[in-house]
Amino acid sequence: MKKKLVSLLTVTAMTFSMLVGCGSEGSAETTQPATTDTQTTQTTETTDTAQTAEQPAATSDFADKKVGVCIYQFSDNFMTLFRNEMENYLISQGFSKENITIVDGANDQATQTNQIQNFITQGVDVLVINPVNSSSAATITDLVVDAGIPLVYINREPDADEEARWADNNWNVTYVGCDARQSGTYQGEIIVDLGQDKVDLNGDGKIQYIMIEGDPENVDAQYRTEFSIKALEDAGWTVDCLDDEVGNWDQATAQQLVANALSAHPETEVVFCNNDAMALGALQSIDAAGRKVGEDIYLVGVDALSEALEDVIAGTMTGTVFNDHISQSHSAADAAINYIKGDGNDHYIGCDYVKVTSDNAQQILDSLK
Ligand code: BGC
Ligand code: CA
Repeated sequence: MKKKLVSLLTVTAMTFSMLVGCGSEGSAETTQPATTDTQTTQTTETTDTAQTAEQPAATSDFADKKVGVCIYQFSDNFMTLFRNEMENYLISQGFSKENITIVDGANDQATQTNQIQNFITQGVDVLVINPVNSSSAATITDLVVDAGIPLVYINREPDADEEARWADNNWNVTYVGCDARQSGTYQGEIIVDLGQDKVDLNGDGKIQYIMIEGDPENVDAQYRTEFSIKALEDAGWTVDCLDDEVGNWDQATAQQLVANALSAHPETEVVFCNNDAMALGALQSIDAAGRKVGEDIYLVGVDALSEALEDVIAGTMTGTVFNDHISQSHSAADAAINYIKGDGNDHYIGCDYVKVTSDNAQQILDSLK
């Protein structure tokens, strides 16, 4: 069963790489979902709600409320920041630590589905779910809605058909997250802002790049891959994809992939990584290859992990994009609180990414302390 899933993911990854990665030229519109406008509009419309919900709640109301939180994988750096922040915030809003249960899906949907069933049996008041596979969202939603429990999805956005069901049926189900297209665009713009003369190191009029993708089922990975390159093309630059690999958000995997890619393609000018964990792995291989970021290669990630911010400040990473785990975790907790209070929520609660270069990396780092 597990094997099947892995090979299915590999096939999806390969298909996706062919469509979006090195095959990106001319294929951009095929991967653009029809729902773009709807989602963007929803993001704008819901901003106020998310902000209003930031008001501190009456603490005593929540001390006996039970929150079940399912995280796709505890070893994920970004989701660790997210879950710790969410737990602290819920406690600050009056929830008891012992009534907040956070479980590790160990990157296995069957494990996570069992955990969801257990939470239903225990009768939690609200569920917050970071799905292992966003494509399982319909099944998860059915389980949770049938049990009469409100549901807040985080980080891995279900598809447009699934989100439409929540509104159509007026279910207490919402998604909290940022629009990954923006993060991809910001990555590309960080490179474009350097100027083509600087980035086109071999002066052949093209940007030679390698792309290291997160889990290909995840819309964040798909959009970052597509929109980072689109930003270069929109600036009128010609791109030359030398390699496009799936690093599954993981540092060690990315380190290996980039080591191979750099030895096969020493002409690489830019390394795009869908997240910072993988960019940190890429940097290890860039160092090992005797290359210097900012001099003979450029490197961008997403998340603004503290370690990546230190690298941006030191010049060993060109830039990153702040994936605001603080506002996302607070909005998710606020949405859970609204459901508990019986107030309801919009079905999409958005947030903004922030472009990070050496100009503002210190400021972002300070704000995280
Ligand atoms: C983050 C990644 C993380 C992934 C997990 C993304 O939004 O940028 O670092 O691994 O979410 O789903
Ligand atoms: Ca070039």
